[in-house]
Amino acid sequence: MAPDASARHYSAVAILLHWASALGVLALIGMGLTMTHAGLSPMRLFPLYQWHKSVGITVLILTGLRLAWRLAHRPPPYPAGMPARERRAAGAAHGLLYGLLVGLPLTGWAVVSLSPFNIPTVLYGLVPWPHLPLAPLLADPAAAEGLIKALHAYGAWFLTALLVLHVVAALRHHLILRDGVLWRMLPVRPGATRTKTLESTR
Ligand code: HEM
Repeated sequence: MAPDASARHYSAVAILLHWASALGVLALIGMGLTMTHAGLSPMRLFPLYQWHKSVGITVLILTGLRLAWRLAHRPPPYPAGMPARERRAAGAAHGLLYGLLVGLPLTGWAVVSLSPFNIPTVLYGLVPWPHLPLAPLLADPAAAEGLIKALHAYGAWFLTALLVLHVVAALRHHLILRDGVLWRMLPVRPGATRTKTLESTR
């Protein structure tokens, strides 16, 4: 039986969480690169770090909500005729994206928590955010801080590469295959004739 229209579309909550995270991650990459490579004065760096930490923790919370949503709801099915290897690749890429959206904020939070400068985090200048109690657990907190900093930076590059792939795949579905996959994650609905039939299972 063909699925009804709502089964082919993500819910409003899923769409909101997706685009809010996407916006946050793009802002975080821009801020992170500016913080570490633009040679700004400490006066200009301080607020940028606070913004980066605030948006980064927000993305962590949004990802927690997205994972909870994903566990409680079945996503819309893949288009009929999508080859099995593409389904596997999409599943692996999405799993990796979720992993990075949890791992990157946690490594950032760990870096801040291990910093010898012990600078407090106050989300959006309003909500005091605790440090992770990591230092007493580590034999060499300074070495661990260096290692986790590198993990955060390489992880951010990996995430950027994966995001490019994600966008290219979405555009391929939209412009070449024209199978309605991108519409499922947009807050507007296409005309009925623009989507091919989607299968009801996966
Ligand atoms: C999805 C979430 C995040 C992304 C995509 C991200 C991205 C980045 C990027 C691109 C950099 C520059 C790396 C470099 O080239 O050296 C950076 C640096 C940094 N981030 Fe994040 N970040 C995220 C979350 C967080 C969070 C939650 C915190 C803290 C609560 C944080 C704290 C930091 C700090 C302290 C640095 C500077 C590290 C250094 O001095 O080398 N980040 N981040």
